[in-house]
Amino acid sequence: MKERAIGEVILDLKNISLSFGAMRVLNNISFDVRKSEIRSIIGPNGAGKSSMLNVINGVYHPQEGEISFRGEVRKQMKVHEAAGFGIARTFQNIALFKGMSTLDNIMTGRNLKMKSSMFSQAIYWGKAQKEEIEHRRKVEEIIDFLEIQAIRKTPVGRLPYGMQKRVELGRALAAEPEILLLDEPMAGMNVEEKEDMSRFVLDINDEFGTTIVLIEHDMGVVMDISDRVVVLDYGRQLADGTPDVVRNNQDVIDAYLGVSH
Ligand SMILES: Nc1ncnc2c1ncn2[C@@H]1O[C@H](COP(=O)(O)OP(=O)(O)OP(=O)(O)O)[C@@H](O)[C@H]1O
Ligand SMILES: [Mg+2]
Repeated sequence: MKERAIGEVILDLKNISLSFGAMRVLNNISFDVRKSEIRSIIGPNGAGKSSMLNVINGVYHPQEGEISFRGEVRKQMKVHEAAGFGIARTFQNIALFKGMSTLDNIMTGRNLKMKSSMFSQAIYWGKAQKEEIEHRRKVEEIIDFLEIQAIRKTPVGRLPYGMQKRVELGRALAAEPEILLLDEPMAGMNVEEKEDMSRFVLDINDEFGTTIVLIEHDMGVVMDISDRVVVLDYGRQLADGTPDVVRNNQDVIDAYLGVSH
């Protein structure tokens, strides 16, 4: 059943500026994210794309601007706040426990959902056990969804790169996120792996209605699967709109799409 129907603005970034010392990484960036859309951020290397995700999930704190989540305005997001709001992410450089299995890595994504403390586990053994079973069930569901049953027990460090990216997506999904931030999920993949990953991104969006903020360099993929695209260029915002609008924007053509990347 299709869950997807693009809804109201859930995340609104207004006039965000971020500097490290004298270096301005984001300069007056404003865009919003609507419920259940696929919202891409593109731009050349060093444009500030990953920094933008770090602002959204509270790792970086901008010096200027406002961030509204579901209408609540704040100057900055805090990491635990963002996680509590259901914002999960994958990283440009895979961040998994290499010695742990696929299953256990995905299980770590359930951390926030695990309510029972060690103390209550000791007292209410049965309740904690029930919870554990529920977490396992959810993780198995994700493993089926991502078609990685064959590698469930394999230490992640032994998996090919494309598979590690898929496991990382699984870990983010385990948090049952409302907003999923994906930082170059297809980087370094071959054509077939990219097709698989695009399909998973579309299916997650379609089946669960998950809002997706995607950073990706492959323009074919971006233009194909995005509802709206914001273009950054060395900290500046160059354009924002549907793939068609962005593709035909002269500034974008000059600064980015016109040059081979
Ligand atoms: N913690 C930090 N301290 C200092 N400079 C930083 C920090 N994080 C990012 N930068 C700088 O901000 C600029 C933008 O970096 P960012 O990683 O956001 O770019 P990007 O668009 O994701 O690039 P890429 O496509 O290469 O991943 C770069 O010049 C980078 O060196
Ligand atoms: Mg980056």
